[in-house]
Amino acid sequence: MTVKELFHNLCEQLQASKVFYGHGVTTAEDEVLLLMMKMLAVDFETLNQMTGDAVSPEVISAANQLLEERIKTQKPMAYVLGFSVFAGLDFKVDERALVPRSPFVQLIDCGFSPWVNMDEVKGVLDLCTGSGCIGLAIAHYFKHCQVDLSDLSEDALSLAKENQQALALNSHTQLIHSDLFESLDKQYDLIVTNPPYVDETEYKNLPQEFIHEPKMALVSERDGLEIPVKILSQAADYLTEAGYLFLEVGFYDQALTTALPNVDFMWLDFSSDETDDFLGDGQGICVFSKADLLKFKPYFEEFLNTHVTQ
Ligand SMILES: C[S@@+](CC[C@H](N)C(=O)[O-])C[C@H]1O[C@@H](n2cnc3c(N)ncnc32)[C@H](O)[C@@H]1O
Repeated sequence: MTVKELFHNLCEQLQASKVFYGHGVTTAEDEVLLLMMKMLAVDFETLNQMTGDAVSPEVISAANQLLEERIKTQKPMAYVLGFSVFAGLDFKVDERALVPRSPFVQLIDCGFSPWVNMDEVKGVLDLCTGSGCIGLAIAHYFKHCQVDLSDLSEDALSLAKENQQALALNSHTQLIHSDLFESLDKQYDLIVTNPPYVDETEYKNLPQEFIHEPKMALVSERDGLEIPVKILSQAADYLTEAGYLFLEVGFYDQALTTALPNVDFMWLDFSSDETDDFLGDGQGICVFSKADLLKFKPYFEEFLNTHVTQ
């Protein structure tokens, strides 16, 4: 059997199953590509040049076993394989943290332009870092930045540490255990965050794949909005005068706008970007300057003082 034939065979099996795609890759073909890259220990370009090569019976058997696990358990493919590609970098991935899939990858790609001049950015905070994917990718591509990666989950931080070491980024990244900003004492030029923002009721109805992820990585109280609004209300204290906050809330952009009608949100538009296989499938990132966070702080606080779960 050739690489191409194995690819088609695995795709057919996956397409005939009831799995959900949405953890960094969005089609059966892309999941099988990742699986074959892992099995043959090659990158995407190399795999592309091997389509006519013969595959050993051992590799065929191992690939089928992994696919069977993916289909039977409905674990995200990244957990089955133990890795994922984010911002062109390989990340170790397992049930300790969310599977990387954030549209932050596109902001890293364009250097957070036009809001931020990365040449002038020294300190970066990746709040709610999970596997470390966003902060470590920033540290990899902008080597002059000192990047702090914080999370409340010790499990997530242990995975982020493994990724920090594998990517050789120890010298200019630091892991911090913190409940949001509680244990942080610096001001940053750039804060990026993809916090939990899923409503508890919606969480219960999510496809099985999401249930394999840590619940604390997904669910936030008060209709999903409590943690995002806490971040909005506190972030100004941790930003330098010219600093910016980029906050991801995915499909909760409308809910956040509705809950805070007096706040001017600036939502980033990813629609014109070309789609790449590993770009991620999210949306809903808003950006705030420190000055705007201070201006709208009373509304964030009002929400936190009054909003009850609908
Ligand atoms: C949606 S995941 C994002 C992970 C990673 N940034 C990414 O994009 O893949 C949210 C992360 O927030 C962490 N978290 C949840 N509550 C937190 C809190 N109160 N303070 C800090 N981190 C928290 C979770 O442990 C999880 O790793």
